[in-house]
Amino acid sequence: MLKPVLAALALAAAATAHAQNRPPIKVGFMLPATGTFAALGDMIEKGFKQYVDEQGGTLAGRQIQYFKVDDESDPSKATDNVNKLIKRDQVDVIVGTVHSGVALAMARAARESGTLLIVPNAGADAITGPLCAPNIIRSSFSNWQPGYAAGVMAAQKGYKRAVSIYWNYAAGQESGKGFAEAFSKGGGQVVKELTLPFPNVEFQALLTEIAAIKPDVVFAFFAGAGAAKFVKDYDAAGLKRTIPLVGSGFLTDGVLEAQGASAQGMMTALHYADGIDTPRNNAFRTKFAVTHKLNPDVYAVQGYDAAQILATGLAATQGDITKRDAFVAAVRKMTVDSPRGKYTLSAAHNPVQDFYVREVKGRENVMTGTAVKVLPDPARGCRM
Ligand code: PHB
Repeated sequence: MLKPVLAALALAAAATAHAQNRPPIKVGFMLPATGTFAALGDMIEKGFKQYVDEQGGTLAGRQIQYFKVDDESDPSKATDNVNKLIKRDQVDVIVGTVHSGVALAMARAARESGTLLIVPNAGADAITGPLCAPNIIRSSFSNWQPGYAAGVMAAQKGYKRAVSIYWNYAAGQESGKGFAEAFSKGGGQVVKELTLPFPNVEFQALLTEIAAIKPDVVFAFFAGAGAAKFVKDYDAAGLKRTIPLVGSGFLTDGVLEAQGASAQGMMTALHYADGIDTPRNNAFRTKFAVTHKLNPDVYAVQGYDAAQILATGLAATQGDITKRDAFVAAVRKMTVDSPRGKYTLSAAHNPVQDFYVREVKGRENVMTGTAVKVLPDPARGCRM
């Protein structure tokens, strides 16, 4: 009677020993550690590590070894930086980054080398458009998506004339496009687009222009330290009292402490919100807060989900990340059980997800409704 049990136990022990004998999976974080997006990179890393820690520090029985490169959100250094992870460190998977311009270079390098790339923020439409590939997966959004959701939200509020303002690079341009598309479908019109180069924060001349145009609403794309300053400057210029400021939720996520009273009452659209009252989100937030003495934000959620995606691929391949087809097939079929709510990945590997309407109350982006349910990115130009 005891013999089969003992044999099974011995087999299980052998399997565990085998797993432990295998080298760790090398995860290369390419994220901003300095500059205007530094805090965003930090939240992504914290979120990723939280998920791995919740699995006991291993995925599919394999230890995880981390490598790190500070990309400085600088596209001109991106190819050199990503090659440090691909060629020097020979990582199994790259996780990064925040900035769309940097991420575009990473996607090209991933396509050339075949290295697995999981994008935990950067929304560049092309990554799940013309640059889409089996080995490139995104756990965040495409720039078009939150822009589009904000356009739906603004049109529903009855605004007719909008001014858009954003940093003049892929993220700003593409979220501005998404906004204009939905806003005009809803009967509004973007009468002017104002831009400044990333990561400039000299907003004064543009705020003066907004005051002269007197639109019904202003749509903005800024994030991180730049978003903190823009919202404060908008208020200090006296515009908050007369022209409502809306945005994709990056405008107020992770920066409410810095924005203080200037952000109160602002409405934004995003695929995450504070106070999503589900067991999944509550457990995630509690664990995060206890570990870091800090509330998580959308960036932490995207990092957490990047680790979930990696875990699913590894589980399907018994930890053998070189079994690329099986890895990708499992990820394509998965439902990501995210703190933001469950979602699937499109054929282009971008989240198909809900976009919430959020309102700033105190130190929270409180969910007050849904702008668009189950919004896929159009994935224009993706052939795979
Ligand atoms: C981007 O560059 O794609 C980007 C950066 C920061 C955000 C969102 C998008 O918060």
